[in-house]
Amino acid sequence: MDQAQNLRNIIKLQNQTESRKARVITVTSGKGGVGKSSLSINLAVQFRKLGKSVIIFDADFGLANIEVMFGAIPKYNLADVIYRGRSIKDIIVKGPMDIGFVSGGSGINGLGDLNYEQINYLTHKLNELESMADIIIVDTGAGISESVLGFVASSSEILLVTTPEPTSITDAYALLKALNLKEGFERESTKIRIVANKTSSREEGKNLYNKLNAVVRKFLNIDLSFLGSVPMDDNLRKAIMQQKPISMIYPNSESSKHFAGLAEGLINGDEDVSPKKRGLVSAMLRMFKSSHS
Ligand SMILES: Nc1ncnc2c1ncn2[C@@H]1O[C@H](COP(=O)(O)OP(=O)(O)O)[C@@H](O)[C@H]1O
Ligand SMILES: [Mg+2]
Repeated sequence: MDQAQNLRNIIKLQNQTESRKARVITVTSGKGGVGKSSLSINLAVQFRKLGKSVIIFDADFGLANIEVMFGAIPKYNLADVIYRGRSIKDIIVKGPMDIGFVSGGSGINGLGDLNYEQINYLTHKLNELESMADIIIVDTGAGISESVLGFVASSSEILLVTTPEPTSITDAYALLKALNLKEGFERESTKIRIVANKTSSREEGKNLYNKLNAVVRKFLNIDLSFLGSVPMDDNLRKAIMQQKPISMIYPNSESSKHFAGLAEGLINGDEDVSPKKRGLVSAMLRMFKSSHS
């Protein structure tokens, strides 16, 4: 049997498995420093407040900033699962409010090179992770490394973070363009929501979305949704200095209120996700399938 056939078999088996599938929300951006990790952490807190169980999966290989913002340092990462026989339980750290945290570490870069046995093994392990949470938030690195782009393209729900800075918007466009060319990306069944961060007025975020969406619709034939904006907020920096999510320590600050609104918007938009595309393992398998075809 060739790799592709092997993969089709894993996918078939996977579809028959009656495991609980988490809702996977992939957070990405065209460039770094726009607020992906801040958004991921604060959405996690807000989801917890709404009674959901949450795991943050840090797929940003470059900068381990979730763990810094969170004050929870994992001892092992995904590479220890793939190559060194660690279990999923070994690599989950529990942070504040019982939010689970998993680091992809160097395992993220190796994903493209896994053979069939390793993929099979990893998907089995990840099934376990999947049944531990209602929602898995995947915080990706900015832009355009192949494994990140592959995962983003395979995701059912994408939050694309951008700030009003022109370079951030053009980089968001560049990411969408690369996504559109990526093997395995299905624009009809992928929900892409824009989050405008560091805005300075109520209208700024919406305007940014309107402009970006017009261009993206015209040239890429993709329809974006607008989840909402998060204002520039000095308390956010203070919270990071204290290694605590702002939604926990300054719940009444402007950005915390907006994070709460974004989380509610996502909970209300749950029906937008095609059941077929639900789950972390199913996204991983789509990624492997398109990289092996
Ligand atoms: N709404 C905001 N208001 C003020 N500062 C922000 C806001 N969002 C993010 N920041 C700051 O911007 C920097 C980058 O944020 P971060 O979440 O690490 O971005 P990314 O994960 O995209 O690289 C951090 O120092 C953070 O404090
Ligand atoms: Mg980050």
